[in-house]
Amino acid sequence: MTLTVLGIESSCDDSAAAVVTGEGRVLASVVEGQTGLHEAFGGVVPEIAARAHAERLDHCVERAMELAGTSFSDLDAIAVTAGPGLIGGVLAGVMLARGLAAGTGLPLLGVNHLAGHALTPRLTDGVDFPYLMLLVSGGHCQFLRVEGPEAFRRLGGTIDDAPGEAFDKVAKLLGLPQPGGPSVEAEAARGDPGRFTLPRPLLDRPGCDMSFSGLKTAVIRLRDELVAQLGGLTESDRADLCAGFQEAVVEVLAEKSRRALAAEPVPVFAVAGGVAANGPIREALAGVAEAAGARFVAPPLALCTDNAAMIAWAGIERLQAGGGPDTEIVARPRWPLDIAAAPMLGAGKRGAKA
Ligand code: KG4
Ligand code: ZN
Repeated sequence: MTLTVLGIESSCDDSAAAVVTGEGRVLASVVEGQTGLHEAFGGVVPEIAARAHAERLDHCVERAMELAGTSFSDLDAIAVTAGPGLIGGVLAGVMLARGLAAGTGLPLLGVNHLAGHALTPRLTDGVDFPYLMLLVSGGHCQFLRVEGPEAFRRLGGTIDDAPGEAFDKVAKLLGLPQPGGPSVEAEAARGDPGRFTLPRPLLDRPGCDMSFSGLKTAVIRLRDELVAQLGGLTESDRADLCAGFQEAVVEVLAEKSRRALAAEPVPVFAVAGGVAANGPIREALAGVAEAAGARFVAPPLALCTDNAAMIAWAGIERLQAGGGPDTEIVARPRWPLDIAAAPMLGAGKRGAKA
């Protein structure tokens, strides 16, 4: 008999619920974003996010169950993000899941949000272990060797900002709308990447660690120089700055991916996270995979960005591997996937980085 699991996600600024089966069918996936709520503040405000999750999550669950045509008696378990993330939001999800489990008698699974992202290629493309995963979003940036449903080895990651965060900050300082990724990408398409020289942080150092905050500082410096010389930015200045910035990110991600694949040759290179929506980044990573003889897998965007289907799926993977439910779930702001790896520095606008 196949499993059917309800997933709940609320670790950042998306309230989400989904129903997924053991065969990898996503019966429903509901995501309610909060961009409008945080826009005026230039970043996610944890208290506002937590309140919005508390208000919206039960509605997301109701809609997901309705869309999937399932009732609680059809479910085998409830999986909920237990971290890492903004603690108020994680708590809102964990409390709802606990209440639902107590009311229905269903077993409860506390899922690591990053494991949800990292296991998505198995849900969408049936990829076998082991594979290499690059997780690139507004809050995360790391290379993981995925060896099993709960076995991850971290090969490297950002030591400061995540790339999405850098895109968002660059958009903000050039007066472009949020989220910054799509607006910077659109500007970059019109710009000349060769006009400004931007750094390629950490490329001169061996290994797969990355850094993106210096790039943002370099953009600020160039912008300020242009403003001081000419009194403002022209449209082509803005487009050229975006193009130069994006090209630097592309080159860093591509070179570090090349190194990760060389260090850990695996048949599949997968990518997840909102930044994977970026055309030139996707193209460059696909090229790196091809050159290394690996298959490139990029799940559809709706399952690449934050969602609850990946949380339900991570719960299913645990059950299918013979793992049991949790008797107690503790919400954890930090929760590295690979506890043997050295902790990374910094806490981004989206909360503590794992
Ligand atoms: O995975 P996601 O939806 O949420 C988390 O951060 O967990 O990723 C959102 C991030 C934002 O920083 C956004 O600017 C970035 O992904 N992003 C992009 C693009 N689309 C979204 N970055 C670069 N190019 C894009 N086209
Ligand atoms: Zn995420």
